[in-house]
Amino acid sequence: MNFQKRILVTGGAGFIGSHLVRLLVKKYPQYQIVNFDCLSYAGNLENLKDVQNETNYVFFKGDICKSDEVNEALTNYAISDVIHLAAESHVDRSIAGPMAFALTNVVGTMQLMEVLRAHWNGNFENHVFYHISTDEVYGSLGADGLFTEKTAYDPRSPYSASKASSDHFVSAYHHTYNFPVKISNCSNNYGSHQFPEKLIPLMIQNIKSEKTLPVYGEGKNIRDWLWVEDHARAIDLIFHQGKVGETYNIGGLNEWANIDLVQFLCQLMDKKLNRPKGSAEKLITFVKDRSGHDARYAIDATKLETELNWKPSITFEVGLEKTVDWYLANASWVDHILEGDYQAYYENQYHKR
Ligand code: NAD
Ligand code: DAU
Repeated sequence: MNFQKRILVTGGAGFIGSHLVRLLVKKYPQYQIVNFDCLSYAGNLENLKDVQNETNYVFFKGDICKSDEVNEALTNYAISDVIHLAAESHVDRSIAGPMAFALTNVVGTMQLMEVLRAHWNGNFENHVFYHISTDEVYGSLGADGLFTEKTAYDPRSPYSASKASSDHFVSAYHHTYNFPVKISNCSNNYGSHQFPEKLIPLMIQNIKSEKTLPVYGEGKNIRDWLWVEDHARAIDLIFHQGKVGETYNIGGLNEWANIDLVQFLCQLMDKKLNRPKGSAEKLITFVKDRSGHDARYAIDATKLETELNWKPSITFEVGLEKTVDWYLANASWVDHILEGDYQAYYENQYHKR
């Protein structure tokens, strides 16, 4: 088929990547969307069941750290643009084992750009390399203030250091080679299909199975939560209308202390599960704090709002209820992860063909 663009989405089988792939596949039948993912522990093709047979969607199992695999995908599909989400994404894992974060997030990003530089043969007009990053690169805020695009980088965890480093390499490729980059830095996402190691899905799962709810430290750390589909909408806008060489912050102006969020979730879950008020809250347990735990993140998204006319589409209350409803209605999705069965989905669905 004669597609207008052929977009490689790296990490498309993960949480945010799968929401983005779904949006692009449905909204742009004139584009081919190639989901390039190595299916690490966090990659789950079940996330994309509903679009896997669309004619403009392709899955390519590949690792961004392996130049031959990247090269094969770029050549086979004559890739015109890349939206790069593949990464190791969990802060606690980065504290336990930082090396994988340097390898995937830093070296993998460079490897991808090196192969692309050759693939596009120095002719970068009409191409985009869009790097998806995090607000954690800016470090930790005190009680006041917001991260803007001009805030100095100050990463504190191995995860954020690896993302900051990859951001710097991406910017350096723009300045040095005129590589056609865009970068966005987003706050904490929540919604369906998030791996149940992250705060919200972990708490939902533990409340459901009446296990303890581990709140780190005193639960006073603050995060700025954004509905994952609003992040995907922002990525779509920046990909199409953002300026090459620019950075955009994305966030919900929706700050919650962890303990307040967990308590709110407990009340919602009691209602949904028809349990007596206060049942879930009894499960809250304060545990040892995360090492180097950043106190507060909060994003100023004025640039994105004013230049590209983006704003979050739903309130946190509505988004959280939709999230809870999704996890309760899709218990088998979590069960497959907990039992490890989701890893076999690729073998069954793709190798069979
Ligand atoms: P995720 O862990 O759910 O998914 C990551 C995906 O990348 C998985 O499908 C995994 O298989 C794939 N992957 C990992 N290593 C790979 C490799 N070497 N080659 C190919 N694929 C590989 O992550 P997420 O939460 O969806 O985050 C996606 C991106 O967005 C990351 O770059 C992350 O830093 C960034 N981000 C996340 C958030 C958030 O709140 N989750 C916020 C801001 C930015
Ligand atoms: O800010 C954007 C970042 O948000 C992304 O770049 C990361 O990929 C994403 O994982 C997320 O990082 P956090 O560390 O903020 O998310 P996490 O869900 O792990 O934790 C949210 C907060 O909840 C944090 O302050 C730690 C706390 N927490 C987390 C877990 C898993 C707990 O108190 N208990 C827990 O069991």
